[in-house]
This record gives sequence, C-alpha cells and structure tokens, in this order.
Amino acid sequence: MTTAIPKAGTFSERAATTRHYLMCRPDFFAVTYAINPWMDPAKGADAATAVRQWEGLVAAYERLGHKVSLIDPVDGLPDMVFAANGALVVDGKVYGARFAYPERAAEGPAYLSWFEGYETREAAFTNEGEGDFLTLEEFILAGTGFRTDRAAHLEAQEFLGRPVVTLQLVDPRFYHLDTALFPLDGRNVAYYPGAFSEGSRRVLARLFPDAVLATEADAEVLGLNAVSDGKNIVINAEAVALREQLTRQGYEVVPVDLTELRKAGGGPKCCTLEIRERSERINKHGALAAEATEPLGEEASTV
Ligand code: ARG
Repeated sequence: MTTAIPKAGTFSERAATTRHYLMCRPDFFAVTYAINPWMDPAKGADAATAVRQWEGLVAAYERLGHKVSLIDPVDGLPDMVFAANGALVVDGKVYGARFAYPERAAEGPAYLSWFEGYETREAAFTNEGEGDFLTLEEFILAGTGFRTDRAAHLEAQEFLGRPVVTLQLVDPRFYHLDTALFPLDGRNVAYYPGAFSEGSRRVLARLFPDAVLATEADAEVLGLNAVSDGKNIVINAEAVALREQLTRQGYEVVPVDLTELRKAGGGPKCCTLEIRERSERINKHGALAAEATEPLGEEASTV
C-alpha cells in the first residue's frame, strides 16, 4: 500500500498547530444591559446554562490538544466571559483593551494584570482586543465602525510591529470583526461579505481570493465567530451551510452549543483569547529585535 499520493478531494495540507487560550468561566454571566442588538435585559440569560455550555467549549479545546488557562471571573462584570475582548497578544506582547462602553471598562485592567511578566501596553485608544483584531501570518486584520477606534489600529501596529489592515464594519448585528470573519489558518479566512463596507469587501477579495464566503444565515447564528487551529474548526452547531463548506474544503468541524452566550452576542471565539508567545520565525532583524525585547518573566511563560 502506498500512502504518498493523497486521495482526490482530500486536503493533505491542512495542519493543526497547538494553541494556548485564555478563558473566563461565566460564573457571573447575565444580560443586564444592552450594548449590542443581541442583548435583551428583559429576557436575561441563565448563568448555570452558560457555564455548562462553556465547559463544553473548554473540553473541545482540550480534546484537540490545546492548552487552556483561566482568569478569575469578577462579580459585576457579566460580559467578562468574552475573553477575546480582553487584549491582543502577539509575539508575547500584550496590547491592552480599552472598552467602548463603561459597563465593560473594568475588564481592561483585569485582563492586563493577568499578563503580569509579559511586555504589556496600556492602550490610549478605544479597542476591544481580539474582538476587532485578528492575527494572520503577515498582517493583522482590524475592524472599526462600532467599537474599536481606527487610531487604535495604528497604535497596535506601532507597538506590535505588524502591519494592520483596517476593515469597515457596517451591520450592527456584526459589531466586532470576529462576528463577521475568522482566520482559517495564517493565510486564509472565512467571512460574511454583508458585514463590510463596499470598499472593505474589495480589500478582502484582493487579499483573500480563496476565502470561504458565508451566508447571512450562517452569520445570524454567529457562525463566523469560530476558532480554527489550521485544521480543526470549533464553530456554533447551527451554522449548517458553513459547516458543510468547511468540511468540503478539508477542515474538521467541531460543533459546539453556546446558545446561552449568544443572548449576549457572543460565540466560541468571543470566549477565547489566544496567547501567542514570541514568534519563532527567524530573520536577521526579527532575531535581533526579539532578543532586545525578551517579554517573558522567569515564571510568567508557564502560567
Ligand atoms: N455582550 C458583549 C459585548 O457586546 C459581547 C462581546 C462578544 N465578544 C466578541 N469578541 N465578539 O461587548
């Protein structure tokens, strides 16, 4: 039996890489205010159900071999479960969040203090962390229009030394970039075009000619709020058409049920902040720069 030639229709190049995620147990989850169209305080939400569903998400990551670290939830911060908003971590450098609404403001310092020992930067401009910053190999995609200020895109670029590409969001249901787009790997993405301005749609078409395009029905169940490790994609179970597309493209789909958290406008990615340690990519300048800015304290790297 020879195994050298992949069968037609399989994508032998899909490769998972192990990730490190920071997450926050939704012990104090509730819908008590409305800062996006998904939230209805009159209907509320149930913390116990949210915890059970969130534990399913943690279990899915651990089954895939990813490392999950936890930050303590804070009473009175019902949205703190949405760890993606807490910071942006690239090359071991932590760009802090500065929330758009006062209801979430205290989450910024709470997340930043978890990263003690890392090289951190307090943001001067409003930004909601990985909710609006999605990191690819060569650049970072950044959303604006509802939460993150465009000035934060430049601030993040200057701090992280990675090019940042601004994308304009136009549909209030998809108020964070991570509700409209997710990286499939370091080079390609899936997105819902209707969430973006006409100009940004052209930018996306130019950058990602092979992108997976999702339907409005996929987006409406927050199907774009998914987490890929390059091969396995953790995604809301109801995003049926998108799941089929991804499977046809050679990805392993891992469906999860986070309906309770969706009452606050969140899905799997919102609950997940990726911790990217210093890049191992070697180039003459990068290696020198990395030596000069060693970000990890003695014990901090293994928290
Ligand atoms: N209720 C939260 C808010 O509106 C949900 C945040 C979802 N997080 C995300 N990364 N999209 O801020």
